[in-house]
Amino acid sequence: MQDLLHGYYQQLGGLDPDASAPSPPPGPVNGEYQAQGKIVRVRRFSRRLVFVDVRMGQCKLGGEDTQEEAPLSSCSCGKVEAVLAAAQCADLPSLHRGLKLGDEVRVHGSVLQLKAPAPAPRTLLEVSRADILAKASVSGLGNAVEEWHAPRVERAEARSDSSKVAKTSTNETGLCKFWVNTGRCERGGEEGCPYRHPTGADLIRERKVWVAQRVESRMRSQQRADDPFEPGRKKRKSGRALIFAQWIHTTFGKPDHAIYRVLDVAGGKGAVGLELEHSFNLPSTLIDPRERILPKWTLRNLGDKELNAHWKGWFVDPPCEELDGLLQGTTPPSHTLLIGLHPDQATEAIVDIGLRLGMPWAIVPCCVFPSLFPERRSPTDGEEVTTTERFIDYLQAKDPGIQHAYLPFEGRNRVLYWMPPGADQSKAEGDAFS
Ligand SMILES: C[S@@+](CC[C@H](N)C(=O)[O-])C[C@H]1O[C@@H](n2cnc3c(N)ncnc32)[C@H](O)[C@@H]1O
Ligand SMILES: [Zn+2]
Ligand SMILES: [Zn+2]
Repeated sequence: MQDLLHGYYQQLGGLDPDASAPSPPPGPVNGEYQAQGKIVRVRRFSRRLVFVDVRMGQCKLGGEDTQEEAPLSSCSCGKVEAVLAAAQCADLPSLHRGLKLGDEVRVHGSVLQLKAPAPAPRTLLEVSRADILAKASVSGLGNAVEEWHAPRVERAEARSDSSKVAKTSTNETGLCKFWVNTGRCERGGEEGCPYRHPTGADLIRERKVWVAQRVESRMRSQQRADDPFEPGRKKRKSGRALIFAQWIHTTFGKPDHAIYRVLDVAGGKGAVGLELEHSFNLPSTLIDPRERILPKWTLRNLGDKELNAHWKGWFVDPPCEELDGLLQGTTPPSHTLLIGLHPDQATEAIVDIGLRLGMPWAIVPCCVFPSLFPERRSPTDGEEVTTTERFIDYLQAKDPGIQHAYLPFEGRNRVLYWMPPGADQSKAEGDAFS
């Protein structure tokens, strides 16, 4: 658990062991601060580790016993990122499932100081006690999501989110969108709502059509002009690991490239590496801090074959000593392939480490995490990187040798990949996979 937390703080640039906690007047009691406000984001890592963003009514964070709350100097957006780890917070096991978006909470704990203050200041609170003061109402939840998008770095998402809200309350089919979506009507049902509220088999049928339309319109809006795979021709997202593995085999499997091993970064359950190791005879190591829980059918298909290796840790740049050892290995860098399918926070580290060490890599970027990486700027207009499109442009600008391709599955399907200069020509010895 401590390793996981340490890794998380490393991703934020590391904690500063020398810095004393900020002491805004009138100061905390025994180094304890408390923050009170609405939950605007919950990320559950496990039952023993949960991250909760709390937006305070005003930008205030005060000491336990102070009547008047004191402003915290580093907090500009009124949001506190509360880290609830079972080791520090005895309430966590009983609270864990109860923490919901929109709930009013009070959290107590110590403020953590980051080594390098990020361009968008953030306040991390290591929580020792948490109380839920009031549960969210359904409409409160809507506000909470909007509030989360309010800070400067999430502007682009705020726009797309408000358009979602608008869509929910307009209607071309005469159908109540709240009703079809949740089985409840925000406007009070037949009494107060002008739209239709079908029931029973009609509801099931209309819901199916509505969901299919939503999925299709989302896919159309994500489709890029140069993507050769029409939305209707794409495979389901669940087939992405196999498709990516086959693409890797076709692209990097030529003897010229001489790839001896793969590091499957942020691989989750590790399906891509497993496929490469078993179907294409390419030793692969999964790198992901999560426990690897495989679906039953994967275990059945595995039969008596062994699972590929798993290093449980964070892929960050600069790498920790253990990761460094794994990267060096016994294979020369140009024969080790780094891959990342929807690798979330590890995406940029794969690119940076690959380019620096001369290791070929292939990634399919997805989420951007703008609040975690607020310093990224678009190479074209200098704007913040808040969308996947901008993120891909930003990554691609790191080296003129970076290429791209599309994979035939739904969702984020653009691959960026790079081979060290001369890799095509270098006739390496040994048994590369083919
Ligand atoms: C969206 S999932 C993708 C999993 C898998 N590649 C797939 O496509 O099904 C993202 C994964 O990234 C992992 N992850 C996030 N940041 C990471 C980091 N810095 N190092 C390693 N894994 C990370 C998470 O634990 C999670 O399993
Ligand atoms: Zn209605
Ligand atoms: Zn993602």
